[in-house]
Amino acid sequence: MTRSCLAVILAAGDSTRMKSSMSKVLHPIAGRPMIAHVMDAVSRAGVGSAALVVGRDADAVAKAGAVGGLAIETFLQTERLGTGHAVLAAGEAIARGYDDVLVGYGDVPLISPETLAAARGGLADGADIVVIGFHTPTPTGYGRLLVDGGELVAIREEKDATDEERKVEWCNSGLMAIDGAKALSLLQKIGNRNLKGEYYLTDIVEIARAEGGRVVMVAAPEREVAGCNNRAELAALERSWQERRRHELMISGVSMIAPETVFLAHDTQIGQDVLIEPNVVFGPGVTIEAGAIIHAFSHIEGARVSTGATVGPFARLRPGADLGAGSKVGNFCEVKNGRIGEGAKVNHLTYIGDATIGARTNIGAGTITCNYDGVNKHETRIGEDAFIGSNTSLVAPVSIGSDAYVASGSVITDDVPAEALAFGRARQENKPERARLIRERALALKASRKASKHAV
Ligand code: UD1
Ligand code: CA
Repeated sequence: MTRSCLAVILAAGDSTRMKSSMSKVLHPIAGRPMIAHVMDAVSRAGVGSAALVVGRDADAVAKAGAVGGLAIETFLQTERLGTGHAVLAAGEAIARGYDDVLVGYGDVPLISPETLAAARGGLADGADIVVIGFHTPTPTGYGRLLVDGGELVAIREEKDATDEERKVEWCNSGLMAIDGAKALSLLQKIGNRNLKGEYYLTDIVEIARAEGGRVVMVAAPEREVAGCNNRAELAALERSWQERRRHELMISGVSMIAPETVFLAHDTQIGQDVLIEPNVVFGPGVTIEAGAIIHAFSHIEGARVSTGATVGPFARLRPGADLGAGSKVGNFCEVKNGRIGEGAKVNHLTYIGDATIGARTNIGAGTITCNYDGVNKHETRIGEDAFIGSNTSLVAPVSIGSDAYVASGSVITDDVPAEALAFGRARQENKPERARLIRERALALKASRKASKHAV
């Protein structure tokens, strides 16, 4: 039988140290708000409902956290009286009765679904509380886990700990799972008689044990339970996320020459045998299919790159770029809302916007689709096996038929039929001897000026 679970996510902390106009949990990691990472892990741990405890930006936080089909309610904690008080802000939801209550933090975004599921598993195995702990050689500032004979006896906050207790290197991540049948009554027994005068969620351990309950710990890797208090920690979380995801991709068959210079988004999909050269940035919404090559210094977002296609170096693919199999978008090219057909080539210094290019068509260097008239966007359509000469301006809306040929330097304003040759430029004229005559005249003028200067 599957157990029901309510996740209570604490996110009411004041974000003062972030020095930001928005809630801390809305700041992005891998292009996605921190809170969405938390909710994604929660949902993957089999949780169906979540209560978000917030202090500000309630609507924005709930919206950003709505991932994985979770049913989300928000609860406002207007006074910040401690973690125990914060969980009770969602008391109304807890009172509805769930098998498990899982407590998470909105600013601990790298927690894995596996760790959350392990904590829930402890409840299924009969524990009343399962605390997610971690080991660190630098425990200063964290609550310490006091363990005896495989059971967790108490969590001691740094401020209230003895010198001996402070030596303990097992720490409280803050995350825990609580037996849903007992959660509310245990939470209501938490008091605030401690050095900070706060309602400590951590007191729930001793309260449960005093009633004969069993409390255990599950260990998480330290990197999973790292929190975020300021922008430097935000950058550290980003680094940690990127390292983990690059590693996963490399293990799945993606080559990266300098992985530390490749930046991925939360949803970047990359197939087997893709080669990614140094200094590549992926924004959201990118799929790279098997065997593609992404050359150095490319920036790609909202794009699909099909099997065997090559991109860059120094290419920019913007939303709606869709590169067909074996196609090429080369150096200093930009593609936006453009479909590049199979085997088509867009090799040098070109802008393709709001366009469709047929299979095997060659776009010459410096071609520009003039898609914007200052008010509206217009489309360019190019058929298969066409050839667009270098330095062509295609003034949209315009279409070029299959097998057509556009002469270099053309400004194309009218449609070009299939198989036609189009010239859209001034006809060349050669004036014999004219260059020499011009040069002689110029030299004579220079000599006469020099002579008159000396005369003065
Ligand atoms: C807490 C734990 C500590 C643990 C540490 C891990 C308690 C008493 N202590 O300490 O054992 O090692 O986390 O980081 O639980 N929050 C609210 N409302 C409040 C207070 C807190 O929403 O009234 C939220 C914060 O936004 C934050 C989380 O709860 O996400 C933890 O609060 P914080 O003040 O950082 O707890 P610590 O004192 O660091
Ligand atoms: Ca903290």
